[in-house]
Amino acid sequence: MLSHSLDFAAWRQARQDEVEQALSTWVPADAPAGLGEAMRYAVLDGGKRLRPLLVLATSDAVGGLRTAALRAACSVELIHAYSLVHDDMPCMDNDVLRRGKPTVHVRFGEAQALLAGDALQALAFELLVPGDDSVPADMAALLCRLLAQAAGATGMAGGQAVDLASVGILLDQPALEAMHRKKTGALLKASVIMGAATGRASPEALVQLGRYGAALGLAFQVVDDVLDVIADSVTLGKTAGKDAAADKPTFVSLMGLAQAQSYAERVLDEAHAALDQSGLDDTAILHALADWVGRRAY
Ligand code: IPE
Ligand code: IPE
Ligand code: MG
Ligand code: MG
Ligand code: MG
Repeated sequence: MLSHSLDFAAWRQARQDEVEQALSTWVPADAPAGLGEAMRYAVLDGGKRLRPLLVLATSDAVGGLRTAALRAACSVELIHAYSLVHDDMPCMDNDVLRRGKPTVHVRFGEAQALLAGDALQALAFELLVPGDDSVPADMAALLCRLLAQAAGATGMAGGQAVDLASVGILLDQPALEAMHRKKTGALLKASVIMGAATGRASPEALVQLGRYGAALGLAFQVVDDVLDVIADSVTLGKTAGKDAAADKPTFVSLMGLAQAQSYAERVLDEAHAALDQSGLDDTAILHALADWVGRRAY
């Protein structure tokens, strides 16, 4: 067990470094009028990089194409970073702290933050279509489609709309779960499915990987709700206690702290069960990533 966790820590660090290096290469410094600086500030040097780690681990589990996996990993992180820039703006959650730094709109102004988000979203799709033969055309098209579905109205953006429309409203559990699955779960599930799309997963493995990604994605946002209540701002790198202050419906407001914590654990059990039924040979890292989601402090 100890050697397993040591292996995971080493695996995680190596992949995080690789993703940081790739993002630093791909996010341009020279976009005009300070836009590049705002984009790099939003993306580099921060964050757990969970979504890229899921892409890379799933790609490894299905023997996927490494060049495509690294591009897919970075593309998902760019969408995530853009979503955070916009999520923090005054018209949404109005947050001043993100990844331990002032938010992009605080540092660069609202218009530049809006544009940095726009440009990061476009760059995400550009990365998936490199213009050489390093990603086969049919694979690039599928990756674009999966990412678009997860980021757009049926996924993250749709979930964010529900989140904003739900301030002060008591959602029941199915409605809250549906919101979480869209605003956060969709991109996390897409990370897994995009990783699978870089290789050849059997239909059964694909079904179970989808189940794993969906469960992990839901549990992730439940834990985010819990951490907003129990963690401090320095540890989180973002302002704690914001959900209650903004009267957002969360799993903690719905069922209380202890119940929300045990709910997240039950959902993660489902993620582990899905991996066990996937028929894949080596799912140790994917299991470890699910454990990490449950145990994380920030
Ligand atoms: C925070 O995501 C926003 C949510 C979707 C809940 P993360 O907790 O993955 O943020 P970083 O990338 O580590 O900063
Ligand atoms: C954000 O959810 C989800 C997205 C950015 C899509 P939250 O608003 O709960 O995220 P934090 O707590 O600000 O990171
Ligand atoms: Mg929000
Ligand atoms: Mg927020
Ligand atoms: Mg939150």
